[in-house]
Amino acid sequence: MGMNIVLMGLPGAGKGTLAEKIVEKYGIPHISTGDMFRAAMKEETPLGLEAKSYIDKGELVPDEVTIGIVRERLSKSDCERGFLLDGFPRTVAQAEALEEILEEMGRPIDYVINIQVRKEELMERLTGRRICSVCGTTYHLVFNPPKTPGICDKDGGELYQRADDNEETVTKRLEVNMKQMAPLLAFYDSKEVLVNVNGERDIEDVFADVDVILLEHHHHHH
Ligand code: AP5
Repeated sequence: MGMNIVLMGLPGAGKGTLAEKIVEKYGIPHISTGDMFRAAMKEETPLGLEAKSYIDKGELVPDEVTIGIVRERLSKSDCERGFLLDGFPRTVAQAEALEEILEEMGRPIDYVINIQVRKEELMERLTGRRICSVCGTTYHLVFNPPKTPGICDKDGGELYQRADDNEETVTKRLEVNMKQMAPLLAFYDSKEVLVNVNGERDIEDVFADVDVILLEHHHHHH
């Protein structure tokens, strides 16, 4: 059966951090459009080069491109167990395309989890973020520091800062994403799948809230 979940939230709200925990516990694939674009950028594929021209400026990658990669990813067999979409959809056009794709698959969305954090907090979270170059685990210099500065707790990998996590690009990302957020929330609210979660608490507390909802669903369907 599986769970079909969408994680929403402004840049820095904690989508990636929460996704790691959900995926670890429930064993569903983590589908992050941001991660997919960054992987393509690293390999310098045509998709990567196109995405980079938008991402470096803090703008959204065009809908056709983004919808195309998500459609392809959802067609893979591991999504039969469910999926966790992170950072997609981000526009109403993407949300409408997703409805169509999922209708074809016969897999409606169970929950859209919206992590709410005030914008004042987001700048600090993003500029202090550091990521493991080996396993991709996310840290924060102040809120979630590694045991040894600059080194991943899990595998000793070196930590790096994302190119779009500088103050100027973050400002643009917040502006662009805030504009899209309200109509998107209204879209999912009208479909009665929206769950708002207060993201301005310890990561473990945020996860505990979400886990209660997912556990109930999980039991209900087994
Ligand atoms: P993407 O990679 O999705 O970036 P984003 O949406 O800007 O989100 P982030 O990954 O920056 O933040 P997050 O919410 O995952 O926060 P995290 O858990 O790391 O997209 C990048 C770019 O790709 C976009 O700008 C766009 O150009 C393009 N793109 C992607 N999807 C697209 C789409 N659908 N359409 C068009 N373009 C698209 O946490 C942040 C920091 O805070 C970390 O340091 C973490 O340790 C810390 N933290 C997390 N939770 C807490 C907490 N509870 N308390 C304290 N600190 C916390």
